[in-house]
Amino acid sequence: MKQAQILWINPIAPEPDRIAYAAALLRAGKPVAFPTETVYGLGANALDAAAVERVFAAKNRPASDPLIVHIAADEQLELIAAEIPAEAQALTRVFWPGPLTLILPKTDAIPLNVTAGLNSVAVRRPANEIALALITACGFPIAAPSANLFARPSPTTAEHVMEDLGERIELIIDGGPTLIGVESTVVDMTARPPTILRPGGTSLEALQAILPSIEIAHRYVGPQQAQPSPGLLSKHYAPHALVELFNETAVVERMRQRAIVLIAAGKQVGVMITQEDRACFDDLPVHIEALGSRNDLAQVARALFAAMRRLDHLGVDVILAKSLGSSGIGLAIQDRLIRAAGGQVTVNIELLESP
Ligand code: TXA
Ligand code: MG
Repeated sequence: MKQAQILWINPIAPEPDRIAYAAALLRAGKPVAFPTETVYGLGANALDAAAVERVFAAKNRPASDPLIVHIAADEQLELIAAEIPAEAQALTRVFWPGPLTLILPKTDAIPLNVTAGLNSVAVRRPANEIALALITACGFPIAAPSANLFARPSPTTAEHVMEDLGERIELIIDGGPTLIGVESTVVDMTARPPTILRPGGTSLEALQAILPSIEIAHRYVGPQQAQPSPGLLSKHYAPHALVELFNETAVVERMRQRAIVLIAAGKQVGVMITQEDRACFDDLPVHIEALGSRNDLAQVARALFAAMRRLDHLGVDVILAKSLGSSGIGLAIQDRLIRAAGGQVTVNIELLESP
């Protein structure tokens, strides 16, 4: 297949003729990449099993991993969800459109390959004018996983999508860099109490304010808590390099010591750090990615996946990253870092014990 076409669409006022062009491809069953407020998605008609199959194929995504269905209107929610409990309605009223995905019982309108055979469907209404205009022009809900190759960091720009899928799809809509930078929060509303399966762009604290009973799935608790077995954390957002995540005491000093050891062993080292800690690595031959200020974690979230990709392009062998806590969007940042690190949080005991 020849290289995908990149079609610029104005993210504030999408041009109707450009939206119509993309919608025509989707109607013909072809996958189209488009921006959302979180990350770029690779879309297909959620009611058409054959179109959805092409999305799985383009991404190399295992059939066992279900997709999120994106909607633009309430009627579409009723079309795909068999039951919309009062608690779910309370959440949609506050957080939609926005980075919150709800798992609800599915109707027969949704083919089983969308949900990987499950009786539930993941659904969200994105806060992005291009995505909403596209869904509205199509007239059907759009099933879309993140538009990356399986096991690569999610794409936050059209260029990232090009890098991963340029040879595999025909059209990428470019609506500029995404606003949030990490994926939506996924909440299972079929569980009692409702359970966060994936932390993301909507914070735990904000959800708790509406639904105090909400819980977080055990495997996503932070590194401060009991360590989950690494096998529980799929290595899903993995860059090519090994990632070591540092937390607890004397983080920057331990990262420096580790960098020195790795450099001496001939390794190329990347460091993901906040602006405030940047100068601590100035004297070392490492590739520094300053993600933003530690006082603005939203900025860090926006920069995270692009930084992982840049370090991969530089060909680093190891990425050293500093944990930034778990409040607000910090929980999603921490989750993506732990996943990239394959579930391993590095606490170097030897260095801690040395005088
Ligand atoms: O922000 C986002 O959510 C982006 C944009 C494109 O909307 N999409 C995204 O999709 O991140 P994806 O496919 O990369 O992640 C979907 C997540 C997976 O963790 C999947 O297992 C979960 O949603 N999921 C989907 N359907 C589910 C279901 N019925 N039950 C439990 N988990 C489900
Ligand atoms: Mg994904």
